[in-house]
Amino acid sequence: MMQQMELKYSVFAKPMATLIMPGSPKARGYDPIPSVWDGEDSELLEKMLALYPRRRPRRILDATVNGGRFWRGSKHPVIGIDIDARHAPSLVADNTATPFREGFFDVVVYDPPHIPNQGSDKKKDFHDRFGLGGKSPKENGYTFAHTYPPFVNEAYRVLKNEGILLCKIADYVHHHRYQWAHVEFVQAAKEVGFQPCDCIVKIRKGPIIDPKWKVAHHSRRQHCYWLVFRKSRKCE
Ligand SMILES: C[S@@+](CC[C@H](N)C(=O)[O-])C[C@H]1O[C@@H](n2cnc3c(N)ncnc32)[C@H](O)[C@@H]1O
Repeated sequence: MMQQMELKYSVFAKPMATLIMPGSPKARGYDPIPSVWDGEDSELLEKMLALYPRRRPRRILDATVNGGRFWRGSKHPVIGIDIDARHAPSLVADNTATPFREGFFDVVVYDPPHIPNQGSDKKKDFHDRFGLGGKSPKENGYTFAHTYPPFVNEAYRVLKNEGILLCKIADYVHHHRYQWAHVEFVQAAKEVGFQPCDCIVKIRKGPIIDPKWKVAHHSRRQHCYWLVFRKSRKCE
């Protein structure tokens, strides 16, 4: 019996000759990302781009590039589009109908305007960065949810099979209602065939509070999400 066990052990302990592709997750080693992140988006993106793509991405589309804050100091090859020419993107284009061919990108990054119909903000930079200038009428429920299906459809088209979609999105309270932006986005992405694979909660030090507000009906948001999707039938 003892002899049998030793034999078994020695069989399992024998190093197996596995082929490890350069640039693959195995070659990069175990480098997990915490599911709660309080650092910069650019740093998190570096980690996500090292973790989720099957190999180092050769073409990345930032579909809402704005000032390109995500890519400061980055060595990744990024094409940044924005519908607003004032941000001087690589290309002025609508991310729901881009000029790129099918399967062109390894990764698409999306950081849409977060909160519609906000009043003017004296800090212009803040206004642009969070997309507070965007409007959404009553017919669309004062949300941006109607923009998700045409975007995910286009993202699916321009991504390679096994490609990754990374989306930064925030829920918010508007018009006295909790707006479930991240849920609506996941639903839209699943609808076109994406696999929702991961979710990282990004937190800020404290919630934004306006001295005008006198009565609270909801908790104040202090976080947003980075959602990870794969154009595949499975995540891993
Ligand atoms: C929240 S900002 C992105 C900020 C950016 N990630 C950064 O860190 O600098 C959203 C941007 O999406 C752009 N945008 C809105 N709708 C768009 C569309 N349909 N196609 C392309 N860009 C769009 C806006 O002009 C805005 O610059």
